[in-house]
Amino acid sequence: MSAMIEISGLRKSYSGKMVVDGLDLSVDRGELFGFLGPNGAGKTTTIRILTTLTKPTSGQVLINGIDVTRDPASVKSEFGIVQQHLSLNRDLTIAENLELHARMHHLSGRERKERIEELLDYVELSDHADYLIDDVSGGMKRRAMIARALIHRPKLLFLDEPTVGLDAQTRRRVWDLIRKMNSDGTTVFLTTHYIEEAEALCQRVGVLHHGSIIAIGSPLNLRMKLGMITVEITLNGNSTQYRYFPDRAQAAQFLQTLTTTERVIMRESNLEDVFVELTGQKVLGD
Ligand SMILES: Nc1ncnc2c1ncn2[C@@H]1O[C@H](COP(=O)(O)OP(=O)(O)OP(=O)(O)O)[C@@H](O)[C@H]1O
Ligand SMILES: [Mg+2]
Repeated sequence: MSAMIEISGLRKSYSGKMVVDGLDLSVDRGELFGFLGPNGAGKTTTIRILTTLTKPTSGQVLINGIDVTRDPASVKSEFGIVQQHLSLNRDLTIAENLELHARMHHLSGRERKERIEELLDYVELSDHADYLIDDVSGGMKRRAMIARALIHRPKLLFLDEPTVGLDAQTRRRVWDLIRKMNSDGTTVFLTTHYIEEAEALCQRVGVLHHGSIIAIGSPLNLRMKLGMITVEITLNGNSTQYRYFPDRAQAAQFLQTLTTTERVIMRESNLEDVFVELTGQKVLGD
């Protein structure tokens, strides 16, 4: 069977500036895939192309075997999308927002009622169905957007920065929901600039930098390629240097070669080390 998402040679330029620059990527059915990159890397632009909102400059995207540029109308029923910015109607309640979306997908009255009830329960918002959008918390808004995206039962869900602006506890609740959807069979493609989010959630991560993927694999696989142990060396309060080793024994051997004026930390490598090493840039949180 073909992949759920198949991207080849994708490019997008705005006023001559390449924002997506030769992207090749395949996401399998059932995967929880993370697109990790700093602000401006091209994550949202890629999602917009994949969901037919923006036309690519060149290249091809197949969603469930359907070409997004040739047949945008058919492809729309294949996926749900939760956009980066709040896109709920603030004059309506949570249930009314879902109702509006269900009508757009031409669901019958009975289907609408059943699914809205089922989805509000799924995202744990049944008690807040009749609250206006402005009267609920950021986490509830995000869960309402997720419920709305699932109304037509898509097999593929795009989440653009699903937890941006949420506190740590609320973020974990959204993570649980994303895991639950994935284990219920939904393929999830999410973008994030939170490294810990990619590390906690994703089976596979693609690191995006200036519009192309510079590394791809499971978080563990990427850490292993770098070296599982990191040694940080700070010389007399100057800038810190990083060295990576396959194991503690080899790191310890290296430590013996250092002089005592250096401040040294030995620890496990993480995905942030991978990112910094690859791009020379920290992923900045907001
Ligand atoms: N409609 C547009 N017209 C011109 N430039 C654009 C447009 N949309 C995006 N860009 C530019 O393309 C680049 C990538 O933007 P994009 O929104 O895809 O990044 P991102 O990875 O989603 O960033 P963030 O983490 O801030 O959401 C940025 O430099 C942005 O200014
Ligand atoms: Mg974005």
